[in-house]
Amino acid sequence: MRRALLALLVVAVAGAVVFYVLTIPRTVPASELPAHKPDLANGEYMFTAGGCAECHATPEKKCNDPKTQDKHVLSGGRCLKTPFGVFNVPNISPDKEAGIGNWSTLDFVNALKRGIAPGGEHLYPAFPYTSYQRMTYADLIDLKAYLDTLPASKNVPPPHELGFPFNIRRGLGLWQLLYVDGKDFVPDPKQSAELNRGAYLVMGPGHCAECHSSRYLWGGIIKSEEFAGARNPEGKGTVPNITPSDDGIGDWSLNDISYLLETGNTPDFDVIGESMAAVQENMAKLTAADRDAIAAFIKALPARPDAVPKSEQKKKDAKDEDAAPGGDTKTGGSKEPDDGSDY
Ligand code: HEC
Ligand code: HEC
Repeated sequence: MRRALLALLVVAVAGAVVFYVLTIPRTVPASELPAHKPDLANGEYMFTAGGCAECHATPEKKCNDPKTQDKHVLSGGRCLKTPFGVFNVPNISPDKEAGIGNWSTLDFVNALKRGIAPGGEHLYPAFPYTSYQRMTYADLIDLKAYLDTLPASKNVPPPHELGFPFNIRRGLGLWQLLYVDGKDFVPDPKQSAELNRGAYLVMGPGHCAECHSSRYLWGGIIKSEEFAGARNPEGKGTVPNITPSDDGIGDWSLNDISYLLETGNTPDFDVIGESMAAVQENMAKLTAADRDAIAAFIKALPARPDAVPKSEQKKKDAKDEDAAPGGDTKTGGSKEPDDGSDY
């Protein structure tokens, strides 16, 4: 009996040690940051491409209001409903107490590339760093310098509302072992410069896969179904398949995709809505060359059948008609505060 207890104790301690070791925050060493003079214009461009304001600017009225107040005041307060609980997006304005005014560039890089906040706190992937980790150091240094120029706000959003075990940040270290390596996007030398630029914008700052892909129960993207569409975790409608298959947008030309990103108009004379409206509004501010590059990359994705069965899409679409805008939240996706009614 004693021996059994002792064995159990040894196993428990060993388990705790393994958990501790596997969840140690993995960060970027200062020596890895290149000497780079920040380019504020590129920082602003990355801010737009990354859609940071869609989550970090304060919503107009309710916390899930699709519209935001001033997109340059990143005072937080948007609520993201996910299967794990409610995330209340933090203030990332340059205020020293309420925001990230005390963060160094290295702190910022670690949050975006490693999902680690200063002090070694693990960040939840409701903040889509699983995509942002592919951004280059230069782009992140520029982005941080740009954020530093924005107005400070004293707003303190409420804490997240998460149940056990999701409220234990340390456990995220295990998840990060699977999904976070902080590696830059690697261009494919066999592809054109345009396709590589498109891939960078889609897989990095644009974080398109975060909304357009189905996930495992634990929130990781199912790689074999990437971009093949997803259920909306709030139960309103589905995010469409954007691979070039019959189910997806195989019949769209390159120009159709670029035109959608520029104007919000689809080839069948529809206007893009839901959470895509704010993404599109950002895409409209990029250069035409970048929109074409994104279109080229989307068009070159592997063609995949819908990840969400058609029967389910219809039901949801019908319900969607009278659904209020703004419920479009999902783990790691952005809850774009715009229902397109600006147009
Ligand atoms: C916040 C979640 C979200 C993000 C991020 C996102 N999308 Fe979307 N996207 C949607 C939703 C929702 C729709 C459907 C909108 C509608 O039906 O009005 C959509 C629609 C589309 C469509 C039209 C598909 C069709 O069949 O009508 C394209 C193309 C598209 N997205 C491309 C992109 C690209 C490229 C990116 C990255 C730059 C991106 N999306 C990022 C949510 C998102
Ligand atoms: C889909 C919504 C969403 C988008 C888009 C988004 N974030 Fe966040 N962000 C969050 C959430 C939620 C958290 C809180 C994570 C946590 O508490 O672990 C967060 C946390 C952060 C933090 C850590 C703040 C702190 O006090 O610990 C930083 C820094 C940050 N985001 C920067 C950015 C930047 C820069 C962008 C654009 C490139 C961006 N975020 C885009 C949702 C988002």
